[in-house]
Amino acid sequence: MILNAAMSLDGKIATVSGDSEFSDEEDWMRVHRLRSEVDAIMVGVNTVLADDPKLTSKVGRSPMRVVVDSMARTPPTARVITFMRREVPTIIAVTGKAPAERIEDLRKAGANVMVCGEKGKVDLEALMEKLFEMGVRTLLLEGGGNLNWSMLERGLVDEVRVAIAPVIVGGSKAITLVEGEGFSKVSQAVKVEFLGVEKVGSCLLIICKVKREADDRRNETPSET
Ligand SMILES: NC(=O)c1ccc[n+]([C@@H]2O[C@H](COP(=O)([O-])OP(=O)(O)OC[C@H]3O[C@@H](n4cnc5c(N)ncnc54)[C@H](OP(=O)(O)O)[C@@H]3O)[C@@H](O)[C@H]2O)c1
Repeated sequence: MILNAAMSLDGKIATVSGDSEFSDEEDWMRVHRLRSEVDAIMVGVNTVLADDPKLTSKVGRSPMRVVVDSMARTPPTARVITFMRREVPTIIAVTGKAPAERIEDLRKAGANVMVCGEKGKVDLEALMEKLFEMGVRTLLLEGGGNLNWSMLERGLVDEVRVAIAPVIVGGSKAITLVEGEGFSKVSQAVKVEFLGVEKVGSCLLIICKVKREADDRRNETPSET
């Protein structure tokens, strides 16, 4: 599972008014190439409502699209469903609390609605299992900040790729790369290992691997005793 995002130097993935256009042309091409290399792309419903993304690839095959949406708030007219609907399937992952009529409307629009969990938020582990059963082995998580938190907190992310745009936008209410409750201690944080950094257009692309506890143990120096 790869988490990919573009953010400002101060860590925002959208401005206070919801503008999320941090990538330049070259970075977008990188994202389109990455999309064509994975089995599925996943976003949270707020990203669909804010940006109305198509989530397809301009440079190769477009993988399956997945929207994490407890209450089936995705509009049936959203481009993630309507754009290339015959060629590119879209899954809307909801909970048992999603209104039946909204589910029906989404199905009529061509989406594949999957119930993952009974109440609260979408059960991400259940969703991952269903996607695995459908043959998804590589998944690209494209935000936003709240879904990024849920996936990271559950240990469901293996790699993070962040394009840092050379801008600072500020705003205490602007969405950051990772939202949610947060960890209270640095020692509890999700730890990453920096694998590489490169210039892509005007952005700085940082690629990191998420470290597992087992990796830490392997790297520990054996004790003298
Ligand atoms: N620059 C970038 O690379 C980039 C990329 C993506 C998005 N964005 C920006 O990010 C903003 C949206 O981010 P966001 O944090 O507000 O929303 P988000 O992560 O896109 O969506 C979060 C919503 O997903 C639903 N959800 C269902 N199950 C969930 C679960 N287990 N964990 C987390 N969420 C779950 C919840 O709504 P329900 O309770 O209704 O289900 C939740 O409020 C937009 O402004 C967008 O433009 C930027």
